[in-house]
Amino acid sequence: MQTTWQAILGWYDRHGRHDLPWRNTDDIYHIYLSEIMLQQTQVSRVREHFYPLFLEHFPTIGALAQATEEEVLSRWSGLGYYNRARNLHACARLAGDGLPTGYKELLGLPGIGDYTARAICAFGHNQPISVIDTNIARVLKRYFALPESTPKALLEHADKLLNTSRPRDHNLALMDIGSMVCLPKNPLCSLCPLSQSCMGIDAPETYTENKKSGYESRELYYGVMMSKGRIALVRTTGSMYKGMLTLPPLEQTDREPIASFRHSYTKYHLTVNLYEIDTLSGDDEVIWADGREMDDYPLSTLTKKALRLIYTPKGNHELQ
Ligand code: ADE
Repeated sequence: MQTTWQAILGWYDRHGRHDLPWRNTDDIYHIYLSEIMLQQTQVSRVREHFYPLFLEHFPTIGALAQATEEEVLSRWSGLGYYNRARNLHACARLAGDGLPTGYKELLGLPGIGDYTARAICAFGHNQPISVIDTNIARVLKRYFALPESTPKALLEHADKLLNTSRPRDHNLALMDIGSMVCLPKNPLCSLCPLSQSCMGIDAPETYTENKKSGYESRELYYGVMMSKGRIALVRTTGSMYKGMLTLPPLEQTDREPIASFRHSYTKYHLTVNLYEIDTLSGDDEVIWADGREMDDYPLSTLTKKALRLIYTPKGNHELQ
């Protein structure tokens, strides 16, 4: 792997986006803040506007912890996804002297999911851990020729490629290769440091998410109501799942889910979000099921996945 690592880092040293402010700080709070903002807003807007403005008001994690929620929300104005600001604030209040440094401990904090925990570990602490955002995912899919891959498989491949001596720069390099060279359409393979060993170089479009494959992304929302170890399921009346039991479906919401997972079937890439509820619609037939005895009930794979997640919680709000 040595020469591939050298090629990646050589490219990064020459062409990487070294001027981004969150790449020029070792303040973990600043790095964490940038990652939350960058999940929802373009790099240029974050860099020029939101990031400096927010830090002007809350320069340290202690200052953020001392602010009222109203102040924090008003400084988040324009960024949307206000739950992220609430979580950021909650983390600041929990952090005390600083955020934890380990991936697992970070995952236990409000709003810190797999991506953010990895980003903090790699970018903030130079820990040997792979980061996968959409740009890096595309690079990996092409490099390893993986037209369809689960998040787990992608991670395994990322770990194979990970440079354990300069993990921070390695991950940033892959991010920049993805956003500057390995473009979704018309990638610039002749400029790519990975071109020598890229297994997808002959047909890069094959590995572009959701395009040729005809996949559609959808979000689904379900309620979770428990009583004495049993869970409320409802009988599906319409659709191809008629007669099956599912978690009670909900309307779209911007509440924070207690858990989320991905599920693919036919042409759909679903993100399934689960929410605690305390009332059920009177119209549905409700079955109080023992979710550990899944074979006793007519359940789709999706519902089984959800039950497995609910009955074996891992304290991670971005579960795969
Ligand atoms: N540098 C570190 N994290 C980043 C991100 N999420 N987007 C762009 N540049 C970054």
